[in-house]
Amino acid sequence: MKKKAKTVTSTTLFNCENLSAKDIHSFQKLILNYYRKQGRKLPWRKTSNPYYILVSEIMLQQTQVERVIEKYTEFISRFPDVGSLAQAPQHSVIRSWQGLGYNRRAIALKKSAEEIEKKFKGTLPRNYEELLSLPGVGPSTASAVCVFAYNQPRVFIETNIRAVFIHYFFSGVREVKDDDILAVVGKTLYRKNPRRWYNALMDQGVLLKKLYPNPGRKSAHYNKQSPFKDSDRQIRGQILKILIGSTKCTEDQLLQILGKDERRVKKILEQLYKEGFIQKKRKHLYLN
Ligand code: ADE
Repeated sequence: MKKKAKTVTSTTLFNCENLSAKDIHSFQKLILNYYRKQGRKLPWRKTSNPYYILVSEIMLQQTQVERVIEKYTEFISRFPDVGSLAQAPQHSVIRSWQGLGYNRRAIALKKSAEEIEKKFKGTLPRNYEELLSLPGVGPSTASAVCVFAYNQPRVFIETNIRAVFIHYFFSGVREVKDDDILAVVGKTLYRKNPRRWYNALMDQGVLLKKLYPNPGRKSAHYNKQSPFKDSDRQIRGQILKILIGSTKCTEDQLLQILGKDERRVKKILEQLYKEGFIQKKRKHLYLN
């Protein structure tokens, strides 16, 4: 009689020291089965347009999926291709970025579009190193573009993926190093369809975060987000919002509206000048 295969679930753990071909197969099945039944239908999963993928990945770097869903569709209809983004005035890109936070990313994305126009004739490169050379594109984002746009079998992690591997392969280990995780990511990669595999891993990460409190916390690379309320980042966002909505505003007016410590606001303004977000013309502040 044929023995019934053991069901693998989120409580099934694997030993990363001596992974057998059978373990790898069970793990892949577990991840892909869940994705087939419960995978999220996200708008950037319907496309392999490399520019759309880049936009979504830059947005997803520091913003929750639910918020990105709304803004992504709006953004790509406003800037439908690399050329339109490269040519757009910076202030209109920052305006479209409102609601996503960390506005530096909007400037970097526009600069990337300009470089893609100049260096790569308007087409996103397929090559990891060339992608990595673009402003605002780090190792995870460059890898995500290789995987989601070009279906390349690259080995990479980000927070959700890290959570999956820590849960299944490093249970009970204290400070898990990314290099150790990456070795297992490489061994278990579903090479037949890397795009599907990484989407499935990300959804598994979201599931595990719901089932277990913070599975990524044991990582040596775990970064707790700093509280947003009354942070410099919140004040930066408020300043930009005020300047988007105003035709003319002086530094004094801005200080009054914000009602925050003058030295602190001036330091943040200096930073915004330096980073090219804003400029001062005859005492009035403007978005670049
Ligand atoms: N986080 C980073 N990239 C993502 C993606 N493509 N889908 C969902 N969450 C992500």
